[in-house]
Amino acid sequence: MEHSEKKEISRREFMKYTIAALGGLIGLGYGIPAIGYVVAPALAKSQAQQWIQLGAVSKVELGTPTLFKVNISRQTGWIVNQEELSVYVLTENGRDFVAMSNVCTHLGCRIRWIADQGQYYCPCHNGVYDKQGNVVSGPPPRPLDKYQTKVENDQLFILEG
Ligand code: FES
Repeated sequence: MEHSEKKEISRREFMKYTIAALGGLIGLGYGIPAIGYVVAPALAKSQAQQWIQLGAVSKVELGTPTLFKVNISRQTGWIVNQEELSVYVLTENGRDFVAMSNVCTHLGCRIRWIADQGQYYCPCHNGVYDKQGNVVSGPPPRPLDKYQTKVENDQLFILEG
Protein backbone atom coordinates (compact mmCIF):
# COMPACT_ATOMS: atom_id res chain seq x y z
CA MET A 1 0.00 0.00 0.00
CA GLU A 2 1.31 3.39 -0.94
CA HIS A 3 1.38 6.17 1.52
CA SER A 4 1.29 9.62 0.19
CA GLU A 5 1.97 12.13 2.84
CA LYS A 6 0.22 15.31 2.14
CA LYS A 7 1.01 18.15 4.42
CA GLU A 8 -1.63 20.74 4.72
CA ILE A 9 -1.04 24.14 6.17
CA SER A 10 -3.82 25.42 8.27
CA ARG A 11 -5.20 28.86 7.73
CA ARG A 12 -3.73 29.90 11.09
CA GLU A 13 -0.23 28.69 10.12
CA PHE A 14 -0.46 30.37 6.73
CA MET A 15 -1.27 33.70 8.40
CA LYS A 16 1.58 33.22 10.87
CA TYR A 17 4.14 32.68 8.09
CA THR A 18 2.77 35.53 6.01
CA ILE A 19 2.94 37.98 8.92
CA ALA A 20 6.49 36.84 9.75
CA ALA A 21 7.56 37.32 6.11
CA LEU A 22 6.00 40.79 5.96
CA GLY A 23 7.70 41.68 9.24
CA GLY A 24 11.02 40.57 7.77
CA LEU A 25 10.50 42.70 4.64
CA ILE A 26 9.58 45.75 6.71
CA GLY A 27 12.62 45.12 8.90
CA LEU A 28 14.86 45.03 5.80
CA GLY A 29 13.22 48.22 4.54
CA TYR A 30 14.25 50.04 7.71
CA GLY A 31 17.43 48.12 8.42
CA ILE A 32 19.31 48.58 5.13
CA PRO A 33 18.99 52.39 5.04
CA ALA A 34 19.89 52.52 8.75
CA ILE A 35 23.09 50.55 8.09
CA GLY A 36 23.90 52.84 5.14
CA TYR A 37 23.31 55.87 7.34
CA VAL A 38 25.83 54.59 9.86
CA VAL A 39 28.43 53.35 7.36
CA ALA A 40 28.28 56.11 4.70
CA PRO A 41 29.87 58.88 6.81
CA ALA A 42 32.81 56.61 7.60
CA LEU A 43 33.29 55.86 3.91
CA ALA A 44 32.88 59.52 2.99
CA LYS A 45 35.56 60.46 5.51
CA SER A 46 38.04 58.01 4.04
CA GLN A 47 37.44 59.51 0.58
CA ALA A 48 37.70 63.09 1.82
CA GLN A 49 41.44 63.61 1.42
CA GLN A 50 42.10 65.39 -1.82
CA TRP A 51 44.68 67.60 -3.48
CA ILE A 52 43.37 71.13 -3.81
CA GLN A 53 44.87 73.47 -6.39
CA LEU A 54 45.61 76.84 -4.78
CA GLY A 55 47.11 78.69 -7.72
CA ALA A 56 50.36 79.72 -9.36
CA VAL A 57 53.56 79.29 -7.37
CA SER A 58 54.72 82.65 -8.73
CA LYS A 59 51.98 84.34 -6.71
CA VAL A 60 53.73 83.50 -3.42
CA GLU A 61 55.93 86.39 -2.30
CA LEU A 62 59.35 85.50 -0.93
CA GLY A 63 59.40 85.73 2.85
CA THR A 64 55.82 87.04 3.18
CA PRO A 65 52.78 84.86 3.90
CA THR A 66 50.46 84.99 0.89
CA LEU A 67 46.77 84.30 1.28
CA PHE A 68 45.09 81.90 -1.17
CA LYS A 69 41.32 81.37 -1.22
CA VAL A 70 39.63 78.45 -2.94
CA ASN A 71 36.12 77.00 -2.91
CA ILE A 72 35.84 73.33 -2.07
CA SER A 73 33.02 70.80 -1.63
CA ARG A 74 33.05 68.91 1.61
CA GLN A 75 30.84 65.89 2.25
CA THR A 76 29.60 65.21 5.76
CA GLY A 77 27.46 62.09 5.74
CA TRP A 78 24.75 62.73 3.17
CA ILE A 79 25.27 66.47 2.98
CA VAL A 80 27.66 68.19 0.56
CA ASN A 81 28.62 71.72 1.56
CA GLN A 82 30.47 74.32 -0.45
CA GLU A 83 32.97 76.20 1.63
CA GLU A 84 35.76 78.67 1.17
CA LEU A 85 39.19 77.54 2.26
CA SER A 86 41.75 80.22 3.09
CA VAL A 87 45.38 79.22 3.31
CA TYR A 88 48.52 81.24 4.04
CA VAL A 89 51.53 80.07 2.07
CA LEU A 90 55.06 80.96 3.08
CA THR A 91 58.31 80.36 1.23
CA GLU A 92 61.76 81.66 2.07
CA ASN A 93 63.52 80.24 -1.01
CA GLY A 94 60.84 79.79 -3.70
CA ARG A 95 61.15 75.99 -3.57
CA ASP A 96 59.95 74.89 -0.13
CA PHE A 97 56.45 75.95 0.84
CA VAL A 98 54.64 75.97 4.17
CA ALA A 99 50.85 76.11 3.85
CA MET A 100 48.92 77.07 6.98
CA SER A 101 45.24 77.16 7.81
CA ASN A 102 43.88 80.59 8.69
CA VAL A 103 41.69 79.02 11.40
CA CYS A 104 42.80 79.81 14.94
CA THR A 105 43.53 76.69 17.00
CA HIS A 106 41.80 78.21 20.03
CA LEU A 107 38.12 78.44 19.05
CA GLY A 108 38.26 78.59 15.28
CA CYS A 109 38.18 82.31 14.45
CA ARG A 110 39.97 83.51 11.31
CA ILE A 111 43.47 84.78 11.88
CA ARG A 112 45.07 87.39 9.63
CA TRP A 113 48.60 88.40 8.74
CA ILE A 114 49.65 91.79 10.12
CA ALA A 115 52.58 92.72 7.88
CA ASP A 116 54.01 95.58 9.91
CA GLN A 117 54.14 93.41 13.05
CA GLY A 118 55.33 90.31 11.18
CA GLN A 119 52.74 88.15 13.00
CA TYR A 120 49.34 86.57 12.57
CA TYR A 121 46.66 87.97 14.82
CA CYS A 122 43.38 86.44 15.97
CA PRO A 123 40.83 89.14 16.81
CA CYS A 124 38.61 86.93 18.98
CA HIS A 125 40.84 86.56 22.07
CA ASN A 126 44.07 88.28 20.98
CA GLY A 127 45.89 85.12 19.93
CA VAL A 128 49.23 85.82 18.21
CA TYR A 129 51.27 83.48 15.99
CA ASP A 130 54.68 84.04 14.41
CA LYS A 131 55.35 83.86 10.65
CA GLN A 132 55.72 80.05 10.75
CA GLY A 133 52.45 79.68 12.64
CA ASN A 134 53.88 79.03 16.13
CA VAL A 135 52.00 80.47 19.09
CA VAL A 136 53.55 83.69 20.44
CA SER A 137 50.91 84.69 22.97
CA GLY A 138 47.28 84.34 23.92
CA PRO A 139 45.08 81.29 24.40
CA PRO A 140 45.76 79.18 21.26
CA PRO A 141 46.85 75.73 22.49
CA ARG A 142 48.98 74.79 19.47
CA PRO A 143 50.50 76.15 16.25
CA LEU A 144 48.37 76.75 13.15
CA ASP A 145 47.43 73.58 11.30
CA LYS A 146 49.63 72.90 8.28
CA TYR A 147 48.92 71.19 4.99
CA GLN A 148 51.14 68.92 2.96
CA THR A 149 52.08 70.70 -0.28
CA LYS A 150 53.19 69.77 -3.79
CA VAL A 151 54.01 71.70 -6.95
CA GLU A 152 52.99 70.48 -10.40
CA ASN A 153 53.32 72.51 -13.60
CA ASP A 154 54.05 75.64 -11.53
CA GLN A 155 50.78 75.19 -9.64
CA LEU A 156 50.70 74.84 -5.88
CA PHE A 157 48.52 72.13 -4.29
CA ILE A 158 47.67 71.26 -0.71
CA LEU A 159 46.41 67.96 0.67
CA GLU A 160 43.14 68.69 2.38
CA GLY A 161 40.87 66.55 4.53
S1 FES B 1 39.69 81.99 18.71
FE1 FES B 1 41.64 82.80 18.31
S2 FES B 1 42.37 83.40 20.22
FE2 FES B 1 40.43 82.55 20.66
